[in-house]
Parts: sequence; structure tokens; C-alpha cells
Amino acid sequence: MTNLPKTSAWQALAEHASEQREITLAQRFGTDEGRFHKFQLKAPGWFLDYSKNQINDETVKHLVALAEASQVSTKFNAMFKGEVVNPTEGRAALHSALRYQGSDAIRVDGEDVVPGIRDVLDRMSTFANKVRAGEWLGFTGKPITDIVNIGIGGSDLGPLMATEALQPFAHDALNIHFVSNVDGSHMVSTLKKVDPETTLFIVASKTFTTIETLTNATTARDWFLESKATENDVAKHFAALSTNAEKVSDFGIDTNNMFEFWDWVGGRYSLWSAIGLPLMLCIGPEQFQRFLSGAADMDKHAKEAPLSENMPVMLALLTIWYSNFFGASSHLIAPYDQYLHRFPAYLQQLTMESNGKSVHVDGSSVSVTTGPIVWGEPGTNGQHAYFQLLHQGTHLIPADFILAMESCNPCGNHHELLIANCLAQTEALMKGKSTDEVAAEMAAAGVPPEKIDALKTHRTFEGNRPTNTLLTQRLDPYALGALIALYENKVFAEAAIWDINPFDQWGVELGKQLATTLYDDMQASVSNGKPVDSHDSSTNGLINHINAARNILA
Ligand code: F6P
Repeated sequence: MTNLPKTSAWQALAEHASEQREITLAQRFGTDEGRFHKFQLKAPGWFLDYSKNQINDETVKHLVALAEASQVSTKFNAMFKGEVVNPTEGRAALHSALRYQGSDAIRVDGEDVVPGIRDVLDRMSTFANKVRAGEWLGFTGKPITDIVNIGIGGSDLGPLMATEALQPFAHDALNIHFVSNVDGSHMVSTLKKVDPETTLFIVASKTFTTIETLTNATTARDWFLESKATENDVAKHFAALSTNAEKVSDFGIDTNNMFEFWDWVGGRYSLWSAIGLPLMLCIGPEQFQRFLSGAADMDKHAKEAPLSENMPVMLALLTIWYSNFFGASSHLIAPYDQYLHRFPAYLQQLTMESNGKSVHVDGSSVSVTTGPIVWGEPGTNGQHAYFQLLHQGTHLIPADFILAMESCNPCGNHHELLIANCLAQTEALMKGKSTDEVAAEMAAAGVPPEKIDALKTHRTFEGNRPTNTLLTQRLDPYALGALIALYENKVFAEAAIWDINPFDQWGVELGKQLATTLYDDMQASVSNGKPVDSHDSSTNGLINHINAARNILA
């Protein structure tokens, strides 16, 4: 494998970074009026201002040279063509095929996957239209009013985030609920809101082996059967989204109510597949198609735009710039849009499950920092919570600000205030306020000199905090599809440069294995009355403490 820090592209960047660290953003804007026009990009549905970054023309050249040396374009092509880009699981990663709008064949093991994808989309549309029209009837002949999606991770976060994001396009008589946590409170509190006669459960699981989902689905089915419903009624109230027909049928769901997808769709990339059914039920097949088109257009841009004009690649390069050359370890996602309130959580799985890796594709250890910690909350709420640390804390936290220029709910001057706050934050983070400025401001306000001296450093803003601003006209299905595909392709470009596999997730396995053993040990201890002693002393101690506190030892 390539030793990244030894490559000439990396070394050139390292040398260049040591000079660039000395120049502040305020100085850059002071000496270059044209930055806004120079450092901006357009992609389907979205405009990016990346001028508030610690870069100049040379930086962009060096970053693009790194992308070229890492064969980002070749790797994009390999992914879009259906080559095995997930070698540890021996699979392609063809989420792009799920939204592809053209007529070319896309082959996996010689077979064109496009007709199968379109078949499932047609079946989903027929089903969604029936439910939305009130023609899919429950066991007492009433139309469906509530849909409960039972899934976790990629089988929950994507459809939940998108259903929330596209509320202005939602069917007004269908309530969509999401249950993911194995904590019984999640299911119990949801079941309190719905009626078995008018509820449709969608069990969403790629593998159909995930313990949280199967436990929740079993509880839902038991609850359903405790009503007047019989086993024969299950088919009217349970559908499955999965790759595993056998397990779906073993669970007791009619495979006629199963919408399939394929093992070349990664869980966190599966929103475009049958896993998107709750979203299709919410916004309807036509708008779902717009959602797919936005993503397809963004894929085309990722594939065809030159690297220096390629939005996902540029965003990836900026993440690498700060993670690897400025020591940044986290990245803030700040959507200035209430409807995007689950977008940071969704991006956490997309980014951190994909690029939270410490070995290269060939299994050797990485020698540079990989995927950053992703976090965030919608603005303006974040401003009144953690923005203090962004402005005056000691961490460098690059941030993406995401804003729709038009509101879906025009109302008074709310949207103008939202826009003003979003732009004011990026301006403040860039410019800061020097101690001299603070002192002059306080003096002009008549503050006595001793008070100025005591307070001026507390009120100083260093500035020089980098941000990207992403703008769209209006957050509609097309724009959302394009935004998600933008980040998916960004994550892929980062992985291509770090030479890691973004499509596996072995790191989640150990906890799952240990939970199974621990569950069995806890149950055995409850039935035989003997304290558990097969783990480390902390884990044994905790199990025994909990068992005793719950008063269930024999
Ligand atoms: O635990 C991680 C994970 O495998 C994710 O990658 C996946 O999205 C989630 O679990 C749910 O898996 P499934 O859809 O198979 O239930």
C-alpha cells in the first residue's frame, strides 16, 4: 500500500500547510477581495461558498494533486460501474444504481441490476399509492392511518431523517413513526399512540438478524395479536424491507409484502432502496422520484466534474486539509433548517461508520488520522448551546452551514432572521474581534479603563475558524436527494485518499457478540442464583450489582 505521508503530493501539502497556518482568514479576506468568486462551486441543487477556509490558489492546486495521485476519479468510476469496492465483504457498493435515471446496464457478476431495481420501485409505488389513497385496508376494513417503521442504523436513520426533512411534502392523513431502540420504552410509547386496526408495521432490516429490530418486531406483532386480530390478519398489517426472504418468512411476514434489496447496498447507503418505503409513503412516489433524481444528478456531477470543480471532492479535500494538516478531530454540521434536525445524526452513521477505520484496504495500519467525529444540531439552537466553544474554545472545528434561501413556511420575518444568523455566525467565526477592537468598543461605550482591562481578553474572539456554506433554493425532495448524495460521495472521496474501505463496519461486531454472551450469563445467573464470574471484575461486578438491585436472584 502507499505510505501516504511519504508521497510527494502529501509532503508538498505538509510544507505548504506550515506556511498557510501563519495566515489568518481575516488577512486573506483583507488582501483578496475576489475570494468569494474564486472559492465557490455549483452542483445540482446546491451552491457552495468555501472561501472562508484557510486556503489560497496554491492550496487548491496541492489538494487537487493529492486527489489525482490517489486516483479519486478512477475509484469513483469503479464504484459507479459496480466493481468490488468493498473487498473485505467481496461486494460492489451500488447505491448509485438505485437512483440511476439512464438506460445503460449496470452489471454485478455479469447481471444487469437496473431492471430488478425498477421492478421493486414499481411495486413500492403501487403499494404506497394504495396506502396513501386509503385503499389498503386493515383487518376491520379501515384505512391505514399510522405507519410504524421498525429498524435501526441504516434501516432507521435515513428514512427518519428524510421523512422529517420533507414534512412540507407529507401526506396529511398518514402519521409515520420510527422505532429503533431496543429500550422497550421506545416501542411502548409508540404503541400508545396507535390503533391495531389502522396501523401498518414495516420491519426494515437488511439482514433480518438484527436483535433490536427483531425484538421490537416481535413485541409489535404480539401487541397486534392481543387485539381482535388473528394470525391471518398479520399480512394486512406487516410488511418487510430486506435482502433476506427466508428470515422474513420465518418471522411470519408474507413475502408478498416484502420489498427486496441486495447485498451490494450498504445499510447506511440504503435509503434509495426499499428502505426508502416510509419516505415514499410519506411524500408519494412522484416526489420520491424527484428525490432519486437529485441524487442521480449529484452522482453525475461527482463522476464528471473536473476535480477542482467537483463539490464532493472539494469538501473531502477540505476535511483532509484540516484533519491531517491542522489537527482538527471533529467536524460540525450546522443545518440552519429545522426540518433537517436529524441530518447530523444521519451523517454520523454515514461518515463515522464508513470512515472510522484504522487500517488501509490491504490491512496495513494507517499512519494518518482518518474520519473525523461528526456532530451538530440545527441553527439557531446550536448558537445558544455549544457555539461558545466554536468561537472561543481551544479546538479547531471546521463546520458546514446548510441553508435554504426560501422557507417552506414563510411567516413574518423568521426566515430573514434565520439567514442573518447563519451568515453572521460564519462571518464572526472567520473575522473574530481583536483585543484592541474590544477595548475601543468598550471605551466608546464609556466603560472605565480598569473594567476594560479586566474584561477585554474575555471578550476577544480570535476568529480564523473555517466554515463552508451550502445554499439551496428550497429544501425540496430534489435538493435533499442531491444533498445526501453530495455527502455520500464526499465520504467516498475521503476514503479513496486515505485508502480505506468505507463500506464495511467490522467495528460494530464485538459489542454485538459480547451482548449475546452477557445476556445469556445474566439469565443463567438469575435462574441458578449464582453470581456471574466469567468476565473481568468490573463487568462481573456490574452484572451482579444490577441483578441484585432488580431483586431477581433466586
Ligand atoms: O450495527 C451496524 C449495522 O450493521 C449497520 O451497518 C446497519 O445499518 C444496522 O446495523 C442495521 O442492520 P440491518 O438493516 O441488517 O438490521
